[in-house]
Amino acid sequence: MRLVILDNYDLASEWAAKYICNRIIQFRPGQDRYFTLGLPTGSTPLGCYKKLIEYHKNGDLSFKYVKTFNMDEYVDLQAECDAFEKKIKEAGGIDLFVGGIGPDGHIAFNEPGSSLVSRTRLKTLAMDTILANAKYFDGDLSKVPTMALTVGVGTVMDAREVMILITGAHKAFALYKAIEEGVNHMWTVSAFQQHPRTIFVCDEDATLELRVKTVKYFKGLMHVHNKLVDPLYSMKEGN
Ligand code: PGA
Repeated sequence: MRLVILDNYDLASEWAAKYICNRIIQFRPGQDRYFTLGLPTGSTPLGCYKKLIEYHKNGDLSFKYVKTFNMDEYVDLQAECDAFEKKIKEAGGIDLFVGGIGPDGHIAFNEPGSSLVSRTRLKTLAMDTILANAKYFDGDLSKVPTMALTVGVGTVMDAREVMILITGAHKAFALYKAIEEGVNHMWTVSAFQQHPRTIFVCDEDATLELRVKTVKYFKGLMHVHNKLVDPLYSMKEGN
């Protein structure tokens, strides 16, 4: 596991975006060679996505979006989920999955107690998640959906690499549970302790519940981690 600690949200977003950009360019994508990026929603990854779009507009990075779920009223939702899993397989699997987590340690909408081998499916949302998402629905709890389609923990575990963005003091306990305690289905993000290639990118506030020893150790590795983003590669320059 890598833990990259930046001073604040903006710097964490920028670091993550640079890392993703470099990983895509190093992969050398081409006409029939796609780098598949898994991108769920959430306000934490938003700063990073905005940066990626900036690189895209500048011509430094090239990508296209793939529609995930068909949410039409009469669609068979489980069939949609199964088709999504199939699409991932057909694309050769996810190269890099990027996601945020909730204060309760959920990854995508895999709420506490979700199976750690779960696949894409319909999930009932926990009250914490409904409360956190009310901001997108004028603060009106009655407008917030109570169910969601989500990739499973097992789906994300199959990605070749996983990047988790964690910012803010309200996520500090979740980061502690994610990396300093054992794998536990009540903190689904902790499953990535068993992933061979996970990178957590966080801000200072998110480290507040970690041991001083842990923070010092990973900060001492920043000169190694920074080599991954410096220089920032560009498709224009053929890197
Ligand atoms: P947030 O959501 O980034 O909007 O806090 C992340 C999540 O709940 O997965």
